[in-house]
Amino acid sequence: MRIDRQSTTQNVFDLISKKSSFQKKKINYFHNKLTRMELKKIENYLQLYKKFLSKNNIALNNAVTSYLEMCTDMFNCHIKFLRTGKYPVKSLTEAKKKVYFNSKKMKSYMVGLAISQFFWETHFKMFKHLQSMILSKANAKSYLEIGPGHGLFSYYSLNILKKLLNYTAVDISKTSLKLTKDFLFYNSKFNFKKELSFINMDFLELKNFNKKFELIVCGEVLEHVSNPIKLLKNIKKSLDKNGKIFISTCINCPAIDHVNQFLNVDHIENLFNKAKFKVISRKVLPVEKVSYKIAIKKKITINYSAILKHI
Ligand SMILES: C[S@@+](CC[C@H](N)C(=O)[O-])C[C@H]1O[C@@H](n2cnc3c(N)ncnc32)[C@H](O)[C@@H]1O
Repeated sequence: MRIDRQSTTQNVFDLISKKSSFQKKKINYFHNKLTRMELKKIENYLQLYKKFLSKNNIALNNAVTSYLEMCTDMFNCHIKFLRTGKYPVKSLTEAKKKVYFNSKKMKSYMVGLAISQFFWETHFKMFKHLQSMILSKANAKSYLEIGPGHGLFSYYSLNILKKLLNYTAVDISKTSLKLTKDFLFYNSKFNFKKELSFINMDFLELKNFNKKFELIVCGEVLEHVSNPIKLLKNIKKSLDKNGKIFISTCINCPAIDHVNQFLNVDHIENLFNKAKFKVISRKVLPVEKVSYKIAIKKKITINYSAILKHI
């Protein structure tokens, strides 16, 4: 199979393939479906990310180790989940101790997750879904991101939103917030005359947060909170009347820091309804080559993203 991967992408792919033939097969299947333009965009991101990693003394080899560690963690959590029917983490306190406040683990996890945006078909498709929302409101002046993690989504958005006056990021993990900040500041192209706030807090605990935003991004946070309706209601309060939200989560997706299990798409969208949001578009993405119905039946993880607005 000849895939037109460029140098950095090929380099990362080779490092992954050497250690996991399963990943090799899966990534080849995905990359084989991409256009030249899509592969070029991946290459541009990876070149930039590689430079950022190197500035932070993280060799590409170690970043790939982080990626594979994240894959193994997820695989092990899933095996346990199939046996017990339960997610491995019971509470936010446990997730804070083991993950969010453990800077070594969190850094490795976020670097691994950043890489997955270009090597997992479902993550790539959700990233593209987010991009479609940002492009549809390219004149937005205010942007809030909850749980930016690795910072890649913020980076993309800041590049597009030339008229932005206010950028705010809220993350429970100091490590995530620092990674995001460092990644944004690393790129000197941005005009940092904008108002920028980086808030290290649990978004559910933010009091007197009465700003309104035209764009809100909340990628992979809903499954991390035990009270998802509170998260959605806080988002609702922060959304401008014509604003849009990108939100992603997953169904049957145990992980080292997931406390909230979604059973199906209705389970997620009933919450959106309760919080008085309307779904403008959605992506429902089983991580294996099976239909939605089969994925639900076999408890195969399904990634999900939606663009929402006020009802
Ligand atoms: C799995 S990462 C997602 C990163 C990125 N948004 C993405 O979709 O790839 C989840 C991020 O949300 C943060 N997070 C989890 N619970 C949170 C909460 N209650 N308030 C703010 N941030 C939270 C974590 O620290 C982490 O940075």
